Amino acid sequence: MNFHILTLFPEMVLQGLNTSIIGRACEKGLLSINAVNIRDFTTDKHKKVDDYTYGGGAGMLMQAQPVYDSYQHVVNNMKTRQRPRVIYVTPQGRVFNQAMAKEMAMEHDLIFLCGHYEGIDERVLEEIVTDYVSIGDYVLTGGELPAMVMIDSISRMVPGVLSNQESGETESFSGNLLEYPQYSRPEEWNGKKVPEILLSGHHKKIEEWRLEQSIQRTKERRPDLYEKYVEEQRRLEALNPKKKRKYKRNLKIQSENQVSKNQEE
Ligand code: ADE
Repeated sequence: MNFHILTLFPEMVLQGLNTSIIGRACEKGLLSINAVNIRDFTTDKHKKVDDYTYGGGAGMLMQAQPVYDSYQHVVNNMKTRQRPRVIYVTPQGRVFNQAMAKEMAMEHDLIFLCGHYEGIDERVLEEIVTDYVSIGDYVLTGGELPAMVMIDSISRMVPGVLSNQESGETESFSGNLLEYPQYSRPEEWNGKKVPEILLSGHHKKIEEWRLEQSIQRTKERRPDLYEKYVEEQRRLEALNPKKKRKYKRNLKIQSENQVSKNQEE
């Protein structure tokens, strides 16, 4: 998977992404990070890439020409003739999530466009952008950090990047559930014991306990996600009545937990 980042701060992106798991995946040739400096493409003799906005208003805008030429440079150097996906990272975009990370990980090339100042001239966005994506409802000073967040998350979904691919599938957000609590040695720390079931060696019971914990945790911490989980269980049940018992069980665990929680209160 090849990431191309159009940015005014290539060193920031490269430094942030060349360590740990992503760095190792690049060394193995599973990923490549190509940070392109938009300023290298300006035709302005003072190397300027921004100007005032028509109609007035505070701040400067990134101009169309250097952005477009940096994009063309990347496209011209690609092996494929297909039009690549260009993600403009902006608070005006669709909010990024795990499903989007998984879906984008299937692309061969992804171009990220990072804005600065008050944004980018609309005309070049219309010309090249395929996806407008935000990382949340808050405003950052530039698009580099959001692009790095997305690249990190997409990279983990590329086969072979995580040493154990399964860990990319069973963790938080897969199936709209948060991950269950986990424990390591020692068995007792600060007066707190590891839940007995995890020491039992009974794999099926452990699996049930973990599912139960995931459901409970999602309900408490992310009621919005929990609603989606319940809806999905109902949908699956309707589609596949043979497996009804399993879906019913998942929902039963959750309602039993609620009863015992209410009794505690
Ligand atoms: N640029 C500035 N803020 C942003 C955000 N929240 N998401 C994506 N890009 C941004």
